[in-house]
Parts: sequence; C-alpha cells; structure tokens
Amino acid sequence: MCGIIGIITKKDRNLIPDITASLSDLEYRGYDSAGLALLDGGVIRVYKCVGAPSQNLNSEKIKKSLGLSETNAKVAIGHNRWATHGEPSVINAHPHLDCRGAVAVVHNGTILNYAKLKEELIGKGHVFSSETDTEVIPHLIEDYLGEGLSLGESVAKTCRGLEGSFGLAAVSAASPELLVVAKNGSPLVIGVLKESLIVASSQNAIIRYTDRIISLHDGEMAELSAGGELVYSISKFGDASSAKVSRQEEKITGISMEDVSKGEFETFMLKEIFDEPASVRAALLGRSDKNKGDAVLGGLIDYSDYLAHISHIYFVACGTAHNAACVGKEIIESLSDIIVESAIASEFRYRKHNFPKLDTAVFAVSQSGETADTLESVKEAKRKGYKTFGIVNVVGSAIAEETDAGIYTRAGLEIGVASTKAFTSQLAAIYLLALKLARERGMSVQKGKEYITELERLPELLKKTLELSTEPTKEIARLYGGIKTINFLGRGIHVPVSAEAALKFKELTYIEVGSYPLGELKHGPMAVIDKESLSVVLSPKDELFDISKNSIEQIKSKGGKIFLITSEDARGDSGINKADSVLYLPVLKEKLFYPMLEVIPLQLFAYHFAKNLGRNIDKPRNLAKSVTVE
Ligand code: G6P
Repeated sequence: MCGIIGIITKKDRNLIPDITASLSDLEYRGYDSAGLALLDGGVIRVYKCVGAPSQNLNSEKIKKSLGLSETNAKVAIGHNRWATHGEPSVINAHPHLDCRGAVAVVHNGTILNYAKLKEELIGKGHVFSSETDTEVIPHLIEDYLGEGLSLGESVAKTCRGLEGSFGLAAVSAASPELLVVAKNGSPLVIGVLKESLIVASSQNAIIRYTDRIISLHDGEMAELSAGGELVYSISKFGDASSAKVSRQEEKITGISMEDVSKGEFETFMLKEIFDEPASVRAALLGRSDKNKGDAVLGGLIDYSDYLAHISHIYFVACGTAHNAACVGKEIIESLSDIIVESAIASEFRYRKHNFPKLDTAVFAVSQSGETADTLESVKEAKRKGYKTFGIVNVVGSAIAEETDAGIYTRAGLEIGVASTKAFTSQLAAIYLLALKLARERGMSVQKGKEYITELERLPELLKKTLELSTEPTKEIARLYGGIKTINFLGRGIHVPVSAEAALKFKELTYIEVGSYPLGELKHGPMAVIDKESLSVVLSPKDELFDISKNSIEQIKSKGGKIFLITSEDARGDSGINKADSVLYLPVLKEKLFYPMLEVIPLQLFAYHFAKNLGRNIDKPRNLAKSVTVE
C-alpha cells in the first residue's frame, strides 16, 4: 500500500528512468497516482500525475513539464499511491512539500495523529495544500530545520512525534547531497551499489540493480550521503544521541529478475497461476519424512512440545489468506480433535476471545506479512497472552518478525493484485501443519505415509489441472459472458473455496457475485435462481457428493444454469447430467486436497471473464496488494 523509492548517486545523472522502473516494480502496492522529486543543486523539482507511474512518468514528459533541458540530479525520491486520506489527485499525490518548497517527503503508512499535528502547524502559520496525513511531515521537518537542526536531526525529531506507521524518505534543498529515510511499521530496505544507494519499500524494486541490501528495523533511520564518498549511517530515531547502529549487508534471496517480469505471459496473474505447480512444490520441498509419516517444519521446531498439546487454534487473516485459513479449519478439524476458528483479522482484533490462553495457538496467515489488520491481530493476541505463529510468504516481513515462530510459504514474488499462487502455497503449508498436529494426536504412521504420498503428487496434479482447465475455462467464460447473476457454491471444505472463487471473480470483473454453502441455497439465495443465473458448483466425488446432487436438481428445477467442477471418478454419474458445463479434476485419494486443485479452474474462469470485459487484470480498480492501513 503505497510504494516509495529514493536514489542517491555519486555523480549527477538522469535518475528518472530508474525511479520509474522501480515504481513500476512497486505498482502492486498502489497505482492511483504517482510523483517524484529531483534534488537539482539547491532546488527541489517536483512532478506528479494521476494514474500508474509505468504509464505516466517519463523523462521527456517531465522535462517538458518542468521546463528543463536536462533532468540530471544526484538525489531523487518517488512514490506511487493507494489513496487513503484524500482522493487520488495531483494535489494529494506525493512527494509533499513544506511551505517553502524546500523539503520534500514521500511516505508509505498512516499517521494516526496527523489531524492534531496539522492543527498545531496551521496554528503556527503553516499552509497545507493536500488532504493527506503525510503532509504534516515536511512541515514538521521545516520547523525543526528552522530551529537550526540538521536534516537528519529534524527527521529524527519529526519521527518521535508521529503516531502510526511509516516508511519515509526526505530531502532538503539545503542539503543537496543527502537523503534521509526512516522506518516504523512499513517496510524499507536499502540497496547497495558501487555508484549509488537505493531505498525502496520492497526488495522487488531493488533486485533489478543489486542483490546486496541493508535492512532497516522499526524505529531506525538512515542518512545516505553522496558528499565525497557514498556513505550511509543508521541510527535509532528515538535515541537523541543519534548513536550509530552497525548493520551487516545481506543478500536478497528467494526472488530474481525473472520474478519481476511477465516472461511469455500476458499478465502477472496468468504467470502466477501457471507458477502454482512449482510454488506448491517449493512449499512442500523437504518438509516431510515419509518413514515417520510426519511433517518436518523447521520453523516450528522450538514449539513442537507446545503444539503437541494445544486444544484450540485461531487463524487470523484477511482476503484470500482468510479463505485459505477457512480451508485450514476444515482440514485440521477433520484430522485431529483441535477446535479451530478462522477469524477475519479486522474482526478478531476488536473482539473478545474465549479460547483458553495457554492451550490456543494463534496462526496469522499472510502473503505479504504486512497486512495491518493481521499484524494488529497478532499484537493483540500477544497482549492477551496467546502464542502466535505465522504462515507468511515474505521473509522477514512484519508478521514474520512479530510472531513467535512460523512456516514460510515459499510462493516467491506475487505481483498480480488478485492473489493466486499465494493461496495454494498457504494451503500446502497448512496441509503440512495439519499432518504434524494430527500425528501428535493419534494419526497412524501408515495414514501419515499415505497422506505424504498424496501430498507429493499435488504439484504434478496441479500441472494436469492447469492443462485440463485452460481451454474449457476460456470457453465457459465466453459462454456465460452476458450472465447477470452468479453464485459460487459448495459443501464442507468446498465452502471456503467457493468464497475464494467469488472473491477472485469480484476483484477482477467488478461484478457482485455470491458464495454460499450449497445447502443454504434453499434458505434465501434460491430466490435469485432463474434461467439468467449461473451456479458454479464445487463437488468432487467425496462423502458430500451425493447430497450435493440434490442441490443441483433444485437449481435445475428453477431453470438455473450450472457449471459443475467435479472429479474424473464422477464421470457418468446420473446426478451430474443436469449440469450445463462440467469440468473434471484428477482423482485424489485424500479428498481433503481437492481445494488445491479446484481453485485452479476458478482462478482461470475469473481471469477469462474479466479479460473478456476488458478489465485491468493485474491492477483491479480500488485495490492494492499490501493493505497496510486499517
Ligand atoms: C489485500 C489483497 C488480497 C489479500 C489480502 C490479504 O486485500 O488485495 O489479495 O488476500 O490483502 O493480504 P496478505 O498479504 O495478508 O495475505
């Protein structure tokens, strides 16, 4: 949610192409408006636009607009925005300036006490031009510079007065060879090159230049200077003595340039759907012991005894991760006697929790590891005395750091805003967790071995499912293109998969659709079924298959169209003849694994439907991939 970038370089050069490229890499964080500031000697030059940086920022346009023949600079900052305070507009786009246009700031996060600060600053005569929370930051820096503090000291003092989350970069016209950054709750890393230092909200925006990085921790700031040698110094902004913090360089692992390019695919989302066999394989790799019929989860090893005795689990998550957690509830409850609740994080953090403190594990599921509601739920759970665990994709992210221990999902970089491979990787991690918990509670070695054998087949079966689904989902999306009412339906473990299918469909097509347990249809939603409606029914041949056939009959009797996703072993079954379109999945011995396969045609169905409507697949309107605000 919002992406920031800052570059400082030894020699003057045109930094706009690098700023634009990095902002494009960060577009998954927000794309409603963008901007940059160049520190041109003693002058700050700002350019802002509405819309995505990849389409709206280029050197020629900027030169023309700024009336410059050259746009060379030693320092530049940039930002792409996902509006929270004030509509997407040029005025609200970052960078924000102080009264004299001599300080520029880009910010990712939310300043909770901005209204009070703004009132005080206005009282002192400061003039604001935007509706954003961010704008208080350059004005505060302006005041402190006016007191004779350096830019670094002014940023530190400003940060001490801010409540909320921030990753920020600030420049001052009075310090033309300095870039100051600070971090509290929002991600920020520094890329180290020979000739320049690059600061960004994510490693994704740095990997195109270098794999050497310095991580900043919450509460820290860094002064990057190009006066003479290129140097950086890290300190804690809460420490008035500005004592230096030493930090080792690290290497970026787990992502490559290949991840930040679409390759042969037309969109990142399609690439990521086709990545699923590989990402699930990575999530499972080396994490089971066939002989013992058990999962091997290194990240949880210190808590093995604890997890062997828990009686309850709270899953907390948002969006797609919540749907994966709901599948997780079904899996864990069916394999063990643990009572599981899958809570939406924005609800969990504000409500009463009755599960016993000492016997309950809280598992936060998150792709980004920085979703504000999920992170706050973890903090709230810790305050209440629960042990917390992460099922997280981004290594070293806030949730990964905040939780006591966890499992990384190893999905690699996911750029499409609508989550796909993150979901199946979360399922893979949860399948392993469920095995571990079940083996500690009476599941036999033999059953464990069979479970692992089936688990190991999943990457291949995902590949097969992709092959089986590609053409039919295109055709079905075309066939039902004009349909007005769509419901996604299933029973048992298929209910959360139908919720995920509906979520994917809404995100991509902007069409409101429903998702219900099949048996609930007759208690209300059936009223919308007519011959203009489509029911997408998930019902592979498991123990609920026969009862689901009843519901199919009921939908048909009201004239509704049906797209059934079932398994190959149901072919020829008289009950399914009623469906207008049928897609057959490979047969699984372990029925609990069907969610992994059945989500594939649903992701593709939403994809093709949206494509036919001409939607922006990778960047649906109003959404962002990492939601770091409440
Ligand atoms: C946003 C994204 C969703 C995602 C949810 C949770 O709403 O648009 O795709 O599922 O956040 O994100 P997380 O990173 O915590 O899994």
